[in-house]
Amino acid sequence: MRILIIDDEPVLQDVLATLLRREGFAVVQATTAAEGLKAFEEQEVDLVLLDLMLPDRPGLEVLKELKSKDPEVCVIVITAFSSVESAITAMREGAFHYIPKPFKNQEVVLTVRKGLEQRQLRKENRVLRQRLEGLDRMVWRSQAMEEIIELVRRAAPSRSNILLTGESGTGKELLARAIHQLSPRAQGPFIVVNTSSVPHDLLETTLFGHVRGAFTGAVATKKGLFELADGGTIFLDEIGTVPLPTQAKLLRVIQEREFIPVGGEHVVRVDVRIIAATNADLQHMVAEGTFREDLYYRLNVITIKLPPLRERKEDIPALASFFLKRFGEENGKPHLTLSPRALDVLMAYHWPGNVRQLENVIERAVVLSPGPVIEPDLFPAEVLQPPSQPVEVSVPADGLDLKEAVNRYTKALIEASLARCGGVQRRAAQLLGVRPSTLNEMIRRLGITAEPAGGVARSSEKLS
Ligand SMILES: Nc1ncnc2c1ncn2[C@@H]1O[C@H](COP(=O)(O)OP(=O)(O)OP(=O)(O)O)[C@@H](O)[C@H]1O
Ligand SMILES: [Mg+2]
Repeated sequence: MRILIIDDEPVLQDVLATLLRREGFAVVQATTAAEGLKAFEEQEVDLVLLDLMLPDRPGLEVLKELKSKDPEVCVIVITAFSSVESAITAMREGAFHYIPKPFKNQEVVLTVRKGLEQRQLRKENRVLRQRLEGLDRMVWRSQAMEEIIELVRRAAPSRSNILLTGESGTGKELLARAIHQLSPRAQGPFIVVNTSSVPHDLLETTLFGHVRGAFTGAVATKKGLFELADGGTIFLDEIGTVPLPTQAKLLRVIQEREFIPVGGEHVVRVDVRIIAATNADLQHMVAEGTFREDLYYRLNVITIKLPPLRERKEDIPALASFFLKRFGEENGKPHLTLSPRALDVLMAYHWPGNVRQLENVIERAVVLSPGPVIEPDLFPAEVLQPPSQPVEVSVPADGLDLKEAVNRYTKALIEASLARCGGVQRRAAQLLGVRPSTLNEMIRRLGITAEPAGGVARSSEKLS
């Protein structure tokens, strides 16, 4: 921490300088306003001790100038006449504190320490604000997302590759942009490659470019996206759709940071950070042999799994009002609100299309809304009548036996019903909407043996 003392009294100068040096601060001395302002411009100063009575200019003017040069600098004024008047004016102009002469050494040291603390805090706040700007388009409230954002904040400054996974519409691309913004590469390019929308035979030239005459139609040399992303970030969306030969080339760029354009002879070196995204199960693809294991591990240095919206419903109200505001402004309806019933509907829905679907639903409601309050009737039918219980299913890539799967599901439901009814089959049958005889037959067929907790209830059932 460096302190500048601007005071025209040599004795006082030396007393202050010695005192502060003893406390471990670097001290710069100036005896006139001109000298002081020059020193301030030439080196990074954290705190200024400023005498208000200077030979060449009024101290208040110097204070204003210091503040205009660096609004975060901490200025402590020293006033000879303990003139409260000028001290108050100085405080109003942004001085941190004032010390009337004569002063006690300890008082000076304490005030300086406090001033430097404030200066440090302001500095940190500014850095934080700037970093957050990369996240200003993201909205979240849930703990799950908070943890993801924390991870992003920590991972963004490095060069490590990042793999983003999550269902469609969970915000993978938005997050990739935020990571880029929060990284030292923010000034560099952010290039998005949607690998699934580029025809396979064009993917390599798209990524790595080609030289003139590389193939029919290659009339000129063309740079690929990796080269365009030099110094920045490349976002490889839907990485799971990249065919195996191109995967090999990708691996090389990651390992060697260089590649050879299609038809070329010379390697091109690039400095690119890779963020890949997928909603496919890459691990499964590795097991299947459709995705290279070595590439998977290279991409997967840091994995961020974006949870589906239905698993972080706390985010829904904040997201809804964010979109309401945005589309409201776009459509000249700036003061729209959601009715409590409308919000209930949004909270109850399971959002298979995640945040993107919510965004679309809100946009539609804003456009259709006749008044200032959005009611559920402005939502599309599927949102209003969700299936009572969404069924979680997954079909393994190597297929399944449907009959066996259905039996497993039936068995689980029957067991759960029996448990709920303390094993009383007649009541469980009622819960399931089947006849007791049917249930009994199913229990035998499916080999349900689990003795329920309410064994007594069951025997009394038998007796009755
Ligand atoms: N946390 C969020 N805050 C604000 N907007 C969000 C958030 N998450 C997603 N969005 C918005 O939802 C839409 C979908 O997000 P994005 O395109 O990033 O999803 P994705 O995971 O890449 O989807 P896909 O897999 O279908 O490509 C975008 O318009 C994005 O701005
Ligand atoms: Mg996307």
